[in-house]
Amino acid sequence: MEIVVSGIRSTGNLHLGNYYGAIQNFVKMQDNYNCFFFIADLHSLTTHPTPENLHGNVKQVLVEYLAAGIDPERATIYIQSDVPEVTELYLYLNMNAYMGELERSTSFKDKVRDNPENVNAGLLTYPVLMAADIIIHKATKVPVGKDQEQHLEMSRNFANRFNRLYNNQYFPEPYAFNFSDNLVKIPGLDGKGKMGKSEGEGNAVFLSDSPEVIRKKVMRAVTDGGPNIENQEKPIEIQNLFDIMKVVSSTDTLIHFENLYNSCQIRYGDLKKQLAEDIIGATSDIRERIKDIADDAAYLRKVANLGAEKARESAGKTIREVREIIGFRSF
Ligand code: TYM
Repeated sequence: MEIVVSGIRSTGNLHLGNYYGAIQNFVKMQDNYNCFFFIADLHSLTTHPTPENLHGNVKQVLVEYLAAGIDPERATIYIQSDVPEVTELYLYLNMNAYMGELERSTSFKDKVRDNPENVNAGLLTYPVLMAADIIIHKATKVPVGKDQEQHLEMSRNFANRFNRLYNNQYFPEPYAFNFSDNLVKIPGLDGKGKMGKSEGEGNAVFLSDSPEVIRKKVMRAVTDGGPNIENQEKPIEIQNLFDIMKVVSSTDTLIHFENLYNSCQIRYGDLKKQLAEDIIGATSDIRERIKDIADDAAYLRKVANLGAEKARESAGKTIREVREIIGFRSF
């Protein structure tokens, strides 16, 4: 069975971007692939969380994975730091990852621009750790949002470079995956770029947000003065609202508001009210389950232990073979 790996950084509550870009695909893939879904707590160390925050955020992502419908019986759900084989492979891959290519990564350049006071080596080698996460299980498909595309290209480079160096075909090439033809980018509510955890107040709708909070955030979303020419192109902040509508609302609703926009009769208040209700509807089951699962410490422990065991079995096999290939042999 084809192998699938993906993960989400444990830096806080998950938002609609994480759900539609990644988790929705996780849930759909778990029946037909051998899936490994993990919580990237090692990756979150680049921003120096306190021990309490680190633990709380890992728990939150685990709860939300389960609430969204990832089934620990069908997929392997684990916490990255429970599988030390990943960090060993990361070290080996680092020996063949070059400064130039790491510095050119778009996400690294963004981080340097946003946090010039914290340009650490972990940030620079972030894509190497990501490659280790993926190829430790020899995955070929990686369900991710559009923003991870370049990281996947780097993962392929690192896998191929290892193969070339040791003159074998040990690691297969991993590719970004989405059930639709294109990778997804969910925009934020602030009229700028993508929805993200660190994009500022009001940009992201979280899966754990209450209906009141969702209504408030959507009603505050940035809009313009409205169209005055029929069929005119939408400005970015309006297009963003339509893009969110595309994933949470029915086709009829979308067409209804497209027509109102195109005939210059749209009232943004109505559009936002509908969008808020459709987001609330699309996330209600998950929201309900988050509360129940978060209180069930015994279940969370069981899931984490089972996942760690299954992930280590797979990762352990790879690392034993990799050591042999590299030339670490016992006397
Ligand atoms: P992270 O935690 O930033 O995001 C997790 C997943 O959510 C997707 N995503 C989005 N998709 C569409 N629209 C958005 N606005 C949006 N925001 C986030 C991301 O594309 C991602 O799929 N480096 C990864 C975590 C990671 C990983 C891996 C992923 C570590 N190792 C190995 C895959 C395989 C990250 O920071 O994602």
